[in-house]
Amino acid sequence: MNIGIIGSGTMGIGIAQVAATSGCEVFLYDTNSAQTEKSLASLKKVLDRLVEKEKISSEKSSDIFGKIKPCSELKDFKDCDLVIEAIIENKEIKTKVFQNLEEIVSEKCIISSNTSSISITSLSSELKNPERFIGIHFFNPAPLMPLVEIIPGLLTEKDLDEEMVSLMKLWGKIPVIAKDVPGFIVNRIARPFYGEALRIVEENIATPEQVDDAMRTLGNFKMGPFELMDLIGIDVNFSVTKTVYADYFYDPKYKPSLLQQRMSEAKLHGRKTAKGFYEYSENAIKTAPEKDEKLYGEIFLRIISMLINEAVEAKRLKIASDEAIELAMQKGVNYPKGLLAWGKEIGYQKISETLQNIYETYQEERYRQSILLRQM
Ligand SMILES: NC(=O)c1ccc[n+]([C@@H]2O[C@H](COP(=O)([O-])OP(=O)(O)OC[C@H]3O[C@@H](n4cnc5c(N)ncnc54)[C@H](O)[C@@H]3O)[C@@H](O)[C@H]2O)c1
Repeated sequence: MNIGIIGSGTMGIGIAQVAATSGCEVFLYDTNSAQTEKSLASLKKVLDRLVEKEKISSEKSSDIFGKIKPCSELKDFKDCDLVIEAIIENKEIKTKVFQNLEEIVSEKCIISSNTSSISITSLSSELKNPERFIGIHFFNPAPLMPLVEIIPGLLTEKDLDEEMVSLMKLWGKIPVIAKDVPGFIVNRIARPFYGEALRIVEENIATPEQVDDAMRTLGNFKMGPFELMDLIGIDVNFSVTKTVYADYFYDPKYKPSLLQQRMSEAKLHGRKTAKGFYEYSENAIKTAPEKDEKLYGEIFLRIISMLINEAVEAKRLKIASDEAIELAMQKGVNYPKGLLAWGKEIGYQKISETLQNIYETYQEERYRQSILLRQM
């Protein structure tokens, strides 16, 4: 199978590695050829390391590398069966690329986008053949994160989602089908993990260190919200939050945080700028959080209740199947458990009461419950 990948940045090169590893011929195009060279050089290092660790043979490594063909123009994609776009997150630029691509590939070629936040339906509607267009959303780093969200738009041909599910399984991935809603499954349900944590710190209820410690120790999350925001990039996380908020017509549930905006303005972006909520310079001093059992319990219950409420609302709206909602959070963002199962374990009534208390305290729509939560 011939796979075209547009954009050879973080996601494009990762997806190229996944496709080549499963035996596909990969055509890789980027307007910036220096980026393609750089990405291929780092892929070579990744493959060498896999050989050293005896995860793959040196023949397999050469085979994978040899299957990825850097292209100097989009015309080289003419025999592709599937094209995955992973360029800059800008609707106008993506649309232009798809329109050019449609002039090159055959009518049978499937065209897809790895967009995190742009509506699949809106991208497809600019194409001559919108029925062949679908969202295929990988998670970073693509070779390591098993989840792939498959998102058919309103105009996508029936059964194309199942076809892509089968293909992703062949590529060794865990695919889930999601409705074309802002944030799809993961980026929608995960919003309160960051948003509520930021709110707690903004209100001086706890420090970032305490929130992270509470979520790690009581929730078994691998990373706390602030550590994770520093890793993702505070600017990137803020931008996703703003998009989801605007795309849900300014639903207060998803309202972004002023603190995050200020951090973003100050270019305190996290690990990549060596300073975010934490410092990452060599002689940075890590302050131990002041442990407080009662406070930790309140923090954990508040954040987990908001997350479970989102998962229940996604279930009510059938954004994805229950199984997909559970898998998505575990395989896309490493949550220790599925949120629906977690709700059952803590007790849905307790979650509902927690949210009701917060709602009455703040008198804010942000804390409204899914109507399904009250019935569970
Ligand atoms: N980085 C993530 O964690 C992540 C996760 C899931 C999805 N995504 C999505 O994947 C896409 C790519 O993200 P990324 O992080 O890999 O970005 P990136 O900045 O690392 O790479 C984007 C690449 O696209 C190239 N490009 C820009 N315009 C182009 C054009 N017109 N034609 C061809 N190439 C062009 C750039 O030169 C760059 O190399 C975005 O839509 C993003 O929302 C990103």
